[in-house]
Amino acid sequence: MYLLTLFHSYFNNMYKFNTPTLTVRNFKIFKGMIEPAQQSEIVNNLREVVRQAPMFSPITPSGYKMTVKMTSAGKYGWYSDVSGYRYVDCHPGGKPWPNIPPLILGLWRKLISDTRDPDCCLVNYYQDGAKMGLHQDKDEADFKWPVLSISLGDDALFRIGNIERTGKTESVWLNSGDVVIMGESARLAHHGIDRIKTGTSRLLDKGGRINLTLRVVDA
Ligand code: SIN
Ligand code: MN
Repeated sequence: MYLLTLFHSYFNNMYKFNTPTLTVRNFKIFKGMIEPAQQSEIVNNLREVVRQAPMFSPITPSGYKMTVKMTSAGKYGWYSDVSGYRYVDCHPGGKPWPNIPPLILGLWRKLISDTRDPDCCLVNYYQDGAKMGLHQDKDEADFKWPVLSISLGDDALFRIGNIERTGKTESVWLNSGDVVIMGESARLAHHGIDRIKTGTSRLLDKGGRINLTLRVVDA
């Protein structure tokens, strides 16, 4: 019985942490990796992040207000205004970004590296009608580190493209608790969120979707 349990937990861990549920253009998608209780705990931790670093809607370099609201935790936060996309070491209110909550860091350490922590946890909040156009994550110094993405709340239609801006794309629905690793050939692939399906999750009090992306920023 003991051996069976041991085998079981080993197998489960192998499944959970090493084998993606599906791989699309080398985006490794782990469906439902974060259990509901842990999702709620992460949301509770994020409430404190948002209290210290309130959400804001960045302006794109071409002058449009983004439809997502965002904030960050960690050494750097991602920021954009008419001067361009970049990482900054303070919230626009002037204070340093809050620390990345340990539970979120734990996921990175388990899945990506237990020797190099991410410098930024970008928190994107999508309410009804919010989307994110096809883009590359390329403001970091070293692309050998993957970006780890965590979805919480309402379902979202995630579009996966190519390294080039053009060409055919494929879409997958991301649900609450899904984790995506964007590394290797997926690291510089275009991706975006076409839309969210409101009311599909009750995780967030006010509805909507949170996406967290953990990034190593410095070389
Ligand atoms: C992002 O690309 O920064 C966010 C992706 C997502 O919301 O799933
Ligand atoms: Mn991105």
